[in-house]
Amino acid sequence: MNNSMRILGVGILLATVGLAGCEKPPVEVVQRGYRGTGMEQVISPGTFQEKVAANQAPEAIPAVPATGPKAKDIYQNVQVLGDLSAGEFNRLMAAITEWVSPEEGCTYCHGMEGFAADDKYTKKVARVMIAMTQRANEEWGDNHTAPTGVTCYTCHRGQPVPEYVWTENPGPKMPGSFAAHPTGQNQASAQVGYTSLPYDPFTPYLEGDADIRMAGDTALPTGNRKSIKQTEWTYGLMMHFSESLGVNCTYCHNSRAFANWEQSPPTRLKAWHGIRMVREMNNDYIGDTVDYLPDTRKGPMGDPLKLACNTCHQGAYKPLYGAPMLKDYPNLATQSAGSKQLISASESLESVTAGATGGGGE
Ligand code: HEC
Ligand code: HEC
Ligand code: HEC
Ligand code: HEC
Repeated sequence: MNNSMRILGVGILLATVGLAGCEKPPVEVVQRGYRGTGMEQVISPGTFQEKVAANQAPEAIPAVPATGPKAKDIYQNVQVLGDLSAGEFNRLMAAITEWVSPEEGCTYCHGMEGFAADDKYTKKVARVMIAMTQRANEEWGDNHTAPTGVTCYTCHRGQPVPEYVWTENPGPKMPGSFAAHPTGQNQASAQVGYTSLPYDPFTPYLEGDADIRMAGDTALPTGNRKSIKQTEWTYGLMMHFSESLGVNCTYCHNSRAFANWEQSPPTRLKAWHGIRMVREMNNDYIGDTVDYLPDTRKGPMGDPLKLACNTCHQGAYKPLYGAPMLKDYPNLATQSAGSKQLISASESLESVTAGATGGGGE
């Protein structure tokens, strides 16, 4: 074989790989909807095995009795975990250390002034995090997180700052002129699957409550004022959903009618609630930590590191592929009175989630 033939051969091979889609061949196709509707998931077994291996839950620390003196009777400054037995309290401190700061140990949150002092910002953040985790499990359990549930490990995976966080993105510096401003586009961005879709769909949709829907529900363009630009922002967010869960669009939509709820699988409703849960976490919990965060933990616009779908999911359709970690840590399953007091999340869930599946075109 001469050189040019060899190059041709490699070219054909690459073209075939390209045609098979973005997954490493051989791929498997799993049908998830009616035959002929294209409701399929394309899975590469090799990549899938690697992802499963990277998403294993750690072993639980052996349980301890919930009886005996309470933490609030023994310790001085326990605002959210006071009702735990002293044994449960110490077990949870050990677990938190393993999940969040295994290398740094207890001193990541506790400083020179002793365990009761709030001298380290990390301890104050951790208190908010405990309240946020409890709320994710109690209030959002039925609509999103149960039965798998959420622990600190779901996001942190043994690191003080979770791997997947975001801050407001001011975009690249552009030379001068008005015409050069890309309105958030034409910069390949990891957040939207390396497409050149708008690179920060998070600020409007996962912190703000901008409208994600833009399809009209009449045959003629009467009344629907949504622009192509808005559509591209929605598309950017949808790329993030697919990447975060490691799924195709058809995991949540019937592609013949993206907007229609009747033809969408139940996973889309889960996602709808997920959006509202993430907004609440970013505004009412993480938003509250900004007062005591050091500058190194803020973005260029001075906002805190926030979470999105991938912060928990990390490429899996259920975080840790559904490993039920929470059952071993029932103290994180319900909100304590102190947790409810700590944060400003005052709206009832009903008002946050009103109008779930209305509209959406036929
Ligand atoms: C990721 C942060 C974090 C780590 C790591 C951590 N703690 Fe804590 N600790 C807290 C928070 C937050 C509180 C306050 C809980 C509350 O307000 O109910 C606390 C409170 C305490 C208290 C109660 C002190 C008092 O008198 O009020 C003790 C004791 C304690 N921790 C021990 C430990 C030990 C031992 C370790 C290591 C095995 C540890 N902690 C690791 C965040 C942490
Ligand atoms: C839903 C995802 C999520 C969960 C669950 C979660 N965290 Fe966090 N955590 C974050 C994000 C995002 C940040 C960065 C934002 C900030 O610092 O306010 C963070 C920051 C922190 C920090 C500050 C670290 C630093 O070096 O600045 C501590 C400490 C912490 N978390 C402890 C905890 C503990 C303890 C739990 C469990 C009770 C927990 N987290 C559960 C997402 C999460
Ligand atoms: C994990 C589930 C999920 C995945 C995966 C997903 N979507 Fe969505 N999509 C939703 C939800 C939920 C909404 C509605 C959001 C709302 O109403 O606030 C939506 C809305 C939309 C809309 C707007 C419909 C309207 O009413 O105007 C379009 C278009 C869309 N998605 C396209 C896509 C595309 C294209 C992909 C793949 C790149 C995708 N989606 C992947 C859950 C998903
Ligand atoms: C606080 C962590 C957390 C965050 C953030 C989060 N999820 Fe989830 N999600 C979960 C858990 C836990 C489950 C598993 C529930 C179960 O056991 O069925 C889940 C399940 C789902 C499912 C159902 C999967 C299935 O196969 O049944 C969808 C769809 C989903 N999430 C979409 C989203 C989207 C979209 C976002 C971002 C807007 C998001 N999630 C953000 C924790 C989270």
